[in-house]
Amino acid sequence: MLGLNYSFMMAETIGQKGITGRKLESFRVRALEALEEIKRKRLPGLAFTELPWQDVSPVREAAKKLKELDYFLLLGIGGSALGPKCILEALSPFHNLRADKGPKVFIYENVDPSTLQSIIACLDIKRTGVNVISKSGGTSETMASFMILHEMMEKALGGEARNRFVLTTDPEKGDLRKLAAEGMGSLAIPPGVGGRYSVLSPVGLLMAEVIGVDSRELLAGAKEAHGKCMAGEFWENPAIVAATLFYVMQRDEGRKIDVLIPYADRLKSFSEWFCQLWSESLGKQGRGLTPYPSVGTTDQHSQVQLWMEGPEDKIITFLRVEDYGADFIIPDVFSRYEGMSFLRGQSLAGLIKAEEEATELALAKAGRPNMSITIPGIDAYHLGQLFYFFELVTVLTGHFLDVNPFDQPSVEEGKKLTFGLMGKKGFEDKKREVVQARDKKSQFTA
Ligand code: PA5
Repeated sequence: MLGLNYSFMMAETIGQKGITGRKLESFRVRALEALEEIKRKRLPGLAFTELPWQDVSPVREAAKKLKELDYFLLLGIGGSALGPKCILEALSPFHNLRADKGPKVFIYENVDPSTLQSIIACLDIKRTGVNVISKSGGTSETMASFMILHEMMEKALGGEARNRFVLTTDPEKGDLRKLAAEGMGSLAIPPGVGGRYSVLSPVGLLMAEVIGVDSRELLAGAKEAHGKCMAGEFWENPAIVAATLFYVMQRDEGRKIDVLIPYADRLKSFSEWFCQLWSESLGKQGRGLTPYPSVGTTDQHSQVQLWMEGPEDKIITFLRVEDYGADFIIPDVFSRYEGMSFLRGQSLAGLIKAEEEATELALAKAGRPNMSITIPGIDAYHLGQLFYFFELVTVLTGHFLDVNPFDQPSVEEGKKLTFGLMGKKGFEDKKREVVQARDKKSQFTA
């Protein structure tokens, strides 16, 4: 099970910029009440807590067919792309360069035409399976790329094209579901599971199976995290302690920027997944916490100066890996140079872990609060734990901030203005608004 070490968040270790044990203790009852409320499912959107027990056979069935092809293209955006991307990069790094790993995988998560052109240049369209993911079944970006791909595949394959698509969407609502009812393959995202909480639904599980990862392992890890983080305890419950620390640090110390720094390239996408979860869930009504994605050791040479000496507005959360599943011993070469000789005989895993530990301490010595989450290794089981843990921490933190962690009302206005510009029926007034704003926008230019 992942472990949380929050020693360097505490006043007992880092001095007055930390939180006292007494303050945390005073928050215990409120935090446990929040957990009880979540357990009684009195918040909407909590269906993600049931995902670890889902039946994965439809996903495995769909993956079996897709694996017979040479290319797998995922179309989706936001929560419908970041989770699968994270699974791909964490569990099958450099996937497309490995001949033994099944279909080559591409994720198109934007509407940048040059990216689509580059992806299409890599595909043999006749040997491609496409997974279109959209919970709402109507997100413009995803629909646009779906329409393009569908036409392209129909031209190449005729009637067979429809068998190459898997539509992952709501079980009842939306245009994708209607298309599924007309005979296209589909998978269902359970109704109460929102986009950014959907990684452990068919959204992420299909990617796992296609790249040869047993999706049940992800769910088994999530189940263990559920057992630990739903337990009615405070001090032994890493999710509740972490959420309390994030909340109290922003409320009492003004620390509103949360850096997540995994010390593993394979978890870089995990930081990005976390950023979307944290931003869209918590940033509302003038409240919220700003996530910052990072990766160690790389960002030690980019960000750490700022974290050590810059504004006192951050909490740094390290993600430590015990076993990298690979290692190299640094050989005894160039030992006449002091800058290199001390490294000989040591391992790369030893070096990255030493750097992580040293950076934690350096920040602590400067009175900069930080905590660490440790996982034994980067595998499906522990990735499942990480997903579930951070989802629950997000919901708990949202509860403390008194915001609804499951909606994203402010994304809507930009969407409506885009509909207006693109001529969607019923949004004519939005088009007028954009056109009028162009005058305003042309007033100050340089
Ligand atoms: O978390 C969310 O709800 C959003 O980020 C969505 O995932 C994103 O907007 C894509 O929506 P959809 O899956 O409906 O296409």
